[in-house]
Amino acid sequence: MASRVPIWFLVVCLFASSLIGLRAEESESKESETKEFVLTLDHSNFSDIVSKQDFIVVEFYAPWCGHCKKLAPEYEKAASILSSHDPPIVLAKVDANEDVNRELASQFDVKGFPTIKILRNGGKSSQDYNGPRETEGIVEYLKKQSGPASVEIKTAEDASNLIVDNKIVVVGVFPKLSGEEYEKYTALSEKLRSDYDFGHTTDAKLLPRGESSVTGPLVRLFKPFDELVVDFKDFDIDALEKFVEEKSVPIVTVFDNDRSNHPFVIKFFNNQNAKAMLFLNFSGEGAEALRSKYHEAAEKFRAEGISFLVGDLDASQGAFQYFGLKEDQVPLLVIQTTDGQKYLKPNLEADHIESWVKEFKEGKVQPYKKSEPIPEQNNEPVKVVVADTLQEIVFDSGKNVLLEFYAPWCGHCKNLAPILDEVAVSYEKDPDVVIAKLDATANDIPSDPFEVKGYPTLYFKTASGKILSYDEDRTKEDIIAFIEKNRDKTDEDEKQESGKDEL
Ligand SMILES: *[C@@H]1O[C@H](CO)[C@@H](O)[C@H](O)[C@H]1NC(C)=O
Ligand SMILES: *[C@@H]1O[C@H](CO)[C@@H](O)[C@H](O)[C@H]1NC(C)=O
Repeated sequence: MASRVPIWFLVVCLFASSLIGLRAEESESKESETKEFVLTLDHSNFSDIVSKQDFIVVEFYAPWCGHCKKLAPEYEKAASILSSHDPPIVLAKVDANEDVNRELASQFDVKGFPTIKILRNGGKSSQDYNGPRETEGIVEYLKKQSGPASVEIKTAEDASNLIVDNKIVVVGVFPKLSGEEYEKYTALSEKLRSDYDFGHTTDAKLLPRGESSVTGPLVRLFKPFDELVVDFKDFDIDALEKFVEEKSVPIVTVFDNDRSNHPFVIKFFNNQNAKAMLFLNFSGEGAEALRSKYHEAAEKFRAEGISFLVGDLDASQGAFQYFGLKEDQVPLLVIQTTDGQKYLKPNLEADHIESWVKEFKEGKVQPYKKSEPIPEQNNEPVKVVVADTLQEIVFDSGKNVLLEFYAPWCGHCKNLAPILDEVAVSYEKDPDVVIAKLDATANDIPSDPFEVKGYPTLYFKTASGKILSYDEDRTKEDIIAFIEKNRDKTDEDEKQESGKDEL
């Protein structure tokens, strides 16, 4: 499943993980390196090696990617530790930046770096690695992943090892460890093992919470929020999956600097609902009242296709940039719908939360579109596009438009700028080709047709309206070659060409 987690949240996460990365590199430099435990694979030997492994972990990386560099020493140390696990667990890497490996990478749906996959059964099944990125965390996560998907709970100690704070843990209670329900539960745990911890037991008295006299079959979900424990008895596999997915989302997801909350924030963004986000200063005046009223509204509306998150101002700088919001607007409620529309209620009062959400539900609130002002002058070779001129310059112009989505702080965008300039200069005399750029942090862009997950992202719209994403090298020659290959002739050209024919 493609992740819909917005860039502004990733920036927060990655910032935190970059600190860990730094510490790791310092200690790494003190050790002397000898043998490499991480296997290097490429297109020539990938299938050969993978087909011989019941369980193998593959990192797709790019040499220029900073997060990959930070991960490398941690990953290598984990590989060395796991090489003496019984049975040994193999970690491998593929340079997905190499042309020869690109097909392999696309086969595994690699869209960003690093992407780590866990392959089972000689590569017949693959799942995303959703675990930590430092040595100890990687080792623990992979040990668990390589064992059975669901752990048997035989003692109270087993139970307390599995059912820990801040995690979703699913436990099946069965009168005996066989039969149809047990098998369905096992299949569920295999399917969802990368996202949740699973256990099973024949003795509900060992479990820390919930009715202890039950004998099952039933599924009990432990969670660190709301009702803390909830039981379920329908063993249809789809129903089970839906139960786990739904119950593992808090009524109100909390977004702050506490990293243990982040997995729930990721879940929040990956669901299909409209998303309500209340931003406020958690330690400011009136925060309690707001949060409590917000919780009430969430209980009322969450069954109607809206998920609720509350974000602390302190952790939400990225979100404010992303939405183009200002701190003097808090407490601020934003609702974002699946089609990318946003609805805004700045300087909200606790007593108005529920009524505003209701108005939104009834279609009485106007959507908000973030746009920079339309530039008065647009005379540079690379044209400036803002949200309010996107339609005119890109969609309705009848021209071939190469459009760059950039962020002001992005280094790769800065490197690309002079190259785009040169491309634009070389097309200056060609009225049918426009080279343009749009600051994607300051303007809302329709998610259809543009999928902007990183910066820079380049799209090409042909004169006839075809949209192509540009994934070639970012050199002047390659960009021009791409434009020449894909551009449409406009009516003007055709006239000129038929004119030529007649000569
Ligand atoms: C796979 O092939 C590459 C390129 O020939 C080589 O560098 C690498 O060591 C090989 N990997 C294994 C595990 O044999
Ligand atoms: C939040 O409120 C507290 C208490 O009034 C204040 O000290 C702090 O600076 C505020 N934080 C932000 C980010 O405005």
